[in-house]
Amino acid sequence: MAISFSFQEDRDCDDADARDRRALRLPDRYRSRARRSMQARPDLSGVHLRPVREGARLRGEEGRRLGLGDRCGHAAGIPIHGESPNVEVHAMKAVVFHGVGDIRLEDVEDPRIEEPTDAVVRITASSICGTDLHMVRGTLTGMKPGTVLGHEGVGVVEELGDDVRNLKVGDRVLIASTIACGDCAYCREGYFAQCDRANPNGPQAGTAFFGGPETSGPFQGLQAERARIPFANVGLVKLPDSISNEQAILLSDILPTGWMAAELAEIKDGDTVAVFGCGPVGQAAIAAARHRSAGRIFAVDNVTTRLEMARALGAEVIDFSDEDPVEQIRRLTDGIGVDRAIDAVGIDAKHPRSGSALDDAMEHKEEYRKEVAEIAPEQNRQFWSWRPGDAPTLALDWAVQSLAKAGTLAVIGVYPSTDRFFPLGYAMGKNLTINMGICNHRKYIPELVELVRSGQLDLAPYLTEIRPLSQVIDSYKAFERRDPYWSKVEIQPGA
Ligand SMILES: NC(=O)c1ccc[n+]([C@@H]2O[C@H](COP(=O)([O-])OP(=O)(O)OC[C@H]3O[C@@H](n4cnc5c(N)ncnc54)[C@H](O)[C@@H]3O)[C@@H](O)[C@H]2O)c1
Ligand SMILES: [Zn+2]
Ligand SMILES: [Zn+2]
Repeated sequence: MAISFSFQEDRDCDDADARDRRALRLPDRYRSRARRSMQARPDLSGVHLRPVREGARLRGEEGRRLGLGDRCGHAAGIPIHGESPNVEVHAMKAVVFHGVGDIRLEDVEDPRIEEPTDAVVRITASSICGTDLHMVRGTLTGMKPGTVLGHEGVGVVEELGDDVRNLKVGDRVLIASTIACGDCAYCREGYFAQCDRANPNGPQAGTAFFGGPETSGPFQGLQAERARIPFANVGLVKLPDSISNEQAILLSDILPTGWMAAELAEIKDGDTVAVFGCGPVGQAAIAAARHRSAGRIFAVDNVTTRLEMARALGAEVIDFSDEDPVEQIRRLTDGIGVDRAIDAVGIDAKHPRSGSALDDAMEHKEEYRKEVAEIAPEQNRQFWSWRPGDAPTLALDWAVQSLAKAGTLAVIGVYPSTDRFFPLGYAMGKNLTINMGICNHRKYIPELVELVRSGQLDLAPYLTEIRPLSQVIDSYKAFERRDPYWSKVEIQPGA
């Protein structure tokens, strides 16, 4: 998609330095596009131009500079002096889902205000989540080609609809991953992920979130230079200056999800807890369990560096490619098991390739194969990467078996609607409580922002990589391969 710009000759500007200073005062998105467009038009070299996006709604500083005073206006209505050469430039870069195993960084249509409760935000930080991996692997089904991926973001408000009254253009904001109206009965009770109004497919369609399957909206995602944020008065939270982008990006999805996992698991002071999966969500769940004063925390994974990170957070670690986690948890708890277990793995669970849990997993191999085929009918078979996990129920099985009688299981790892497998009988025989769900992000964000601002929650351990948007596809691959020390990555569109 291309956008048309008009150019107004800048008569006050008669030297290159002054022109550069003027260019630097332009908002970022105009600055880079202006340079690109001018490069594309050698016939314009030497002419000092000020770019004006046609049809753009201009406010505040930008509007004043263009002589609109404090009024809003439309750039197309501004008189153009002299020649007005129109130049076509591409709108913005974003990560686009084309099909299972096929994502690309490419130019897409610029977002715009569609409803009075919308905002347009220039994204300054985004990230990649385990949920994105499920979509690219085909285990979270129903993605529409053309959807921009990503549901984590921090940015600066660029445009506001008339009904967003708690923010102003220029505010630095955190974007909640799930979209909620803030007004329906569910939102008022804090069930933001069950909002009755946000999902255009209706109140029974499921959680509305950025960059998800068709049933979730679909809404264009946040791995992009800019994004449209519906119900911005609810989903955007203004950030204090003392919180950096590196901290804030972790509060968009991962930390709230860990916090909700610990709440669903009903962790109380002194409880013994097991967290299955030590990806970013598992690590956030460990932090939340500590915050709730858990007595002991076991962490299970088979990625050495992720287990190292979990140990550094205070967990007792178990490598499932070495030891059988159920056996070890029972042994280390005098045969009782854990009071609370959290599944932070989700549908792409893997079985061990070695160690004492291998034989048992191999006995169920055929069962797992059938489960994967039913859950993910369309899979990527072309490349070595983007492959579904090979044991969808294994982490859940281990969690159920590791729990003490009458314990609580929290399922926060994502399972799609095509998944009908759960070790129900075993869980029932132990009188387990099972809680699960998509995170009600907006409910936890204000508390977490305050914990970080006041220094009570240190987020330094959780972000391991920072990459420019231009390297986002390689970052997806490194995250999916679980490269050593690759956990949470900040993607910087502006870099
Ligand atoms: N409920 C929500 O609102 C919500 C929000 C965010 C993420 N999630 C989900 O949380 C899960 C984790 O997300 P993430 O970003 O940490 O993803 P991730 O893919 O980085 O982490 C998953 C981890 O599980 C480990 N694992 C694989 N098989 C295992 C097994 N059998 N036992 C134990 N560990 C195993 C992997 O090695 C990996 O470290 C995903 O399913 C994601 O979709 C849910
Ligand atoms: Zn996520
Ligand atoms: Zn609502």
